[in-house]
Amino acid sequence: MKALISRLLYTREFRNSLWGAMARGLIRRTAKRMKYSVDFQVDMLAVDRPHYAWCMLGAARLAKRLGHDRISAIEFGVAGGNGLAYMCDFARDVERVTGVKVDCYGFETGQGMPEPEGPYDLPYWFAASQYKMDRAALEARVPEAHLVLGDIDETIDGFLESHKPAPIGVIFNDTDYHSSTRDSFRIFRQVKNRPEHFLPRIFMYFDDVLGSEFEMYAEHNGQLRAIAELNAEQKAIRIHRNQNLIHQDYLPYRHQIYYGHLFDHPNYNTYIGEGRQEAIEDRLKLRT
Ligand SMILES: C[S@@+](CC[C@H](N)C(=O)[O-])C[C@H]1O[C@@H](n2cnc3c(N)ncnc32)[C@H](O)[C@@H]1O
Repeated sequence: MKALISRLLYTREFRNSLWGAMARGLIRRTAKRMKYSVDFQVDMLAVDRPHYAWCMLGAARLAKRLGHDRISAIEFGVAGGNGLAYMCDFARDVERVTGVKVDCYGFETGQGMPEPEGPYDLPYWFAASQYKMDRAALEARVPEAHLVLGDIDETIDGFLESHKPAPIGVIFNDTDYHSSTRDSFRIFRQVKNRPEHFLPRIFMYFDDVLGSEFEMYAEHNGQLRAIAELNAEQKAIRIHRNQNLIHQDYLPYRHQIYYGHLFDHPNYNTYIGEGRQEAIEDRLKLRT
């Protein structure tokens, strides 16, 4: 019976239907009492930030296949710190489920938004000083988080040297501006010299690629522009929107998950297909 319900919940038609939405509501309401598995809760959107959770679990599993037991997750743009706090809390679930520890870093001015650099930063929508942080409150809430305070333009280049992070497997980018997103990508400049600080492929989330009719995000402004520029200016790194979630209509975040491919990484070609490939091969054998 359990297997049947589970199968039904995972059919695309059911997930995208009103029944699917109602089932998720019920699962959300009963999650604490019923002690569902972490993956089930994430899939059913029964956690606070399913997009953060999905990326962290995915990166931990990739890391495990590559032989790592510790990774780093970064949030660019922390504001009050709800995202960073969620990361630190969920990191405990990730470690319990996968055995991989996740260190959580947050880059933030601490003073709210910097001055916009120009029109690509959407100054008609974002302004200096928005989203200020209460640093003491955040440090008290999540003492285990690593805050990197200052403008990303000033903190990014020395980060690997000063913090020596475990391989970075997840990047949540919520800095709103084109200029801040562009500057955050400078972290990739050191992949060749310091590959030990990166997984070869990175789970990424961009918050500011979907928005209202007032924001009008597009390829020519904000985060989408920064991604397009990075892809155009060099060949070693590609950031692209996922191709595995975009057809899952019920996932509100499906258009915001991206992947970063670091082609120069020495482990980029390391085979990670064990288990899954054998199952596919079995299915493809000619039935006689
Ligand atoms: C929308 S808020 C982040 C919200 C947060 N991620 C959350 O989910 O609760 C954007 C934040 O990015 C920060 N930010 C933008 N540009 C920055 C830069 N160049 N350096 C550091 N922080 C920056 C701002 O100070 C602001 O707090």
